[in-house]
Amino acid sequence: MTKGALLYEGKAKKVFAADDPEYLIVCYKDDATAFNGLKKGTIVGKGIINNKMSNLLMQRLEQAGIPTHFVKELSERETLVKCVSIVPLEVIVRNIAAGSFSKRYGVEEGIAFESPTIEFSYKNDDLGDPLMDEYHARAMKFASAEEIELIKKYAFGINTLLKEFWAECGVILVDFKLEFGRLPDGSIILADEISPDTCRLWDSQTGEKLDKDRFRRDLGGVEDAYSEVMRRLLEKI
Ligand code: TMP
Repeated sequence: MTKGALLYEGKAKKVFAADDPEYLIVCYKDDATAFNGLKKGTIVGKGIINNKMSNLLMQRLEQAGIPTHFVKELSERETLVKCVSIVPLEVIVRNIAAGSFSKRYGVEEGIAFESPTIEFSYKNDDLGDPLMDEYHARAMKFASAEEIELIKKYAFGINTLLKEFWAECGVILVDFKLEFGRLPDGSIILADEISPDTCRLWDSQTGEKLDKDRFRRDLGGVEDAYSEVMRRLLEKI
């Protein structure tokens, strides 16, 4: 499959056309942003880690019955994926209070929930990705009631699978963000990426942050954290 025209450049990935319009080629960059692009930087080698990690995790999810956009890893930074129309919702699952949850409700980070939570935000940089409930998502015609139920089922299923897997790696899956897309036949599949950019991953023993919060919060050791979670994943997968 050869790389065609650049169709879209996002904050962390470029998307190219493939020979076959059913597919796209995504290319992972080392660019990192936070706070809706206000903070910019580079995490050296991040694109290589995120490409590989996301592909390995998506293949694992596929084996467990979750449909994903993953087709084939083409190179260190490039992957062939199914072309979908993205549902403009960021789907966030949380197991432990952190980040915007802790800020919004004034609670300490690290409090474990009895059961996981799910929330949606409208994927729109100009509006700062505002929270959006299911009724509003339906009113905006982003997804039907049935599709929202399916997205929730997939998201909680993914949480169960990933939480268990990361636990084997000595990592706590605190929270994560997913994006889903629609194939031409209307079916919903998991798209985008699963990586330390889109998950909070804490060391099970020490609670050390092993994810993009090290960049967001200027904690240092960003590259080392990405390499460390990748190393642990490769040991167990
Ligand atoms: P939050 O606590 O800032 O809402 O983030 C929840 C999870 O979503 C966290 O694992 C990081 C991830 N996330 C993204 O992947 N993209 C984003 O733009 C934001 C704000 C969070």
